[in-house]
Amino acid sequence: MKTILVTGASRGIGLEWTRQCLDRGHRLLATCRSPDNARGLLKLRESYADLLDILPVDVEDEGSATRLFSELEKKSESIDLLFNNAGIIDWEDMLDVSSASMEKIYKVNVVGALLVLRAAIPCLRRSANPVVVNVSSRLGSIELRGNTQLGGAMAYQCSKAALNMLTKQASIDLAPFGITVLSQSPGWVRTGMGGSDAKFSVEESVTNMLGHLENAGLSLNGKFIGEDGVELPW
Ligand SMILES: NC(=O)c1ccc[n+]([C@@H]2O[C@H](COP(=O)([O-])OP(=O)(O)OC[C@H]3O[C@@H](n4cnc5c(N)ncnc54)[C@H](OP(=O)(O)O)[C@@H]3O)[C@@H](O)[C@H]2O)c1
Repeated sequence: MKTILVTGASRGIGLEWTRQCLDRGHRLLATCRSPDNARGLLKLRESYADLLDILPVDVEDEGSATRLFSELEKKSESIDLLFNNAGIIDWEDMLDVSSASMEKIYKVNVVGALLVLRAAIPCLRRSANPVVVNVSSRLGSIELRGNTQLGGAMAYQCSKAALNMLTKQASIDLAPFGITVLSQSPGWVRTGMGGSDAKFSVEESVTNMLGHLENAGLSLNGKFIGEDGVELPW
């Protein structure tokens, strides 16, 4: 049994990730902005009361992640897998995207991911095989630009490219502690973000990802992979 911490677990990929990991017998620290309103998580707790904790984290608020992890630290918690998943999008293109949207999306998708990862390090270091998955996107691949039919989400694309750099740098900086850090794209998924035309159901996407992550270790350190486990170009 692993202890897995998820951000953005209230709905979409984060909620399904939580559900499938609970089904596999893991212990979940599912974080979200409003635990009292997280209906999907509250429903899961009816079946998995012993394995599921629902905890507050707003990744935009620096104090929020720090508070949670200092509480976990006090209990000497060990975290085997951090699923750094919380994210937002805006589809505006280069001509229309506002500076406010650029800043907001960076704050959640990049700064938020960094704050959570940094605060989690003491708990990750207690694990024998700690892994951090930064949930990225093919839209963050500079090399794939022009090769996908989707485009124009300027702030989002830049944020996921920056998140990939965060992955690469963290994979180098945290290697001495044995912490594996990778970026994974979940594919195009039918969630609030992905919309109803997307290729994968949320169940398929998470099953695919888990298939390639269950035994993840240092061989994936600093890699950018798709939902199928195949490496993606940066
Ligand atoms: N769906 C796709 O096709 C797709 C493709 C590539 C990558 N991704 C990535 O996959 C991840 C999950 O996306 P999704 O499709 O599941 O999106 P979603 O259905 O829109 O869910 C987004 C999740 O992020 C949470 N969140 C947003 N801002 C937050 C904040 N400040 N603090 C904490 N949580 C916050 C939301 O919480 P609230 O309920 O409180 O709003 C929600 O739980 C994202 O990083 C996204 O970029 C998705």
